[in-house]
Amino acid sequence: MYTEKVMEHFNNPRNIGIIAEPTVLVQVGEPSCGDSLLLSLKIENDRITDVKYKIYGCGAAIATASVASEMVMGLPLDDVMNNITDMTIADALDGLPPEKMHCSNMAAGALHGAIREYRKAIAAKHSGPAN
Ligand code: FES
Repeated sequence: MYTEKVMEHFNNPRNIGIIAEPTVLVQVGEPSCGDSLLLSLKIENDRITDVKYKIYGCGAAIATASVASEMVMGLPLDDVMNNITDMTIADALDGLPPEKMHCSNMAAGALHGAIREYRKAIAAKHSGPAN
């Protein structure tokens, strides 16, 4: 039921771990099954320079987190926001069974959520206290 690429990433997940001093750290969960993903990013010059994660989830969730971590390494934040979706992640694995499509939501959701958090923190820093 899984493609060769899904099995390959499931058996050898890339970039597992947590960055020691991440720029941003987020946790997301998939309410339908209770699985979760903890994602850490290093961001420099509006670009992802490192990504590591820990995941509690099914084979599809592990494979999607793994391939997504490879897809976004080195990418500008705008590219991640505009081009990395649950569909593009599933496509990079040559597809997922329909009943497993929701599993790719965690990786896409965590990436977008992390970038939103990062941008919010930057905006708050730049607006500063009013004089
Ligand atoms: Fe929970 Fe796949 S069944 S993420």
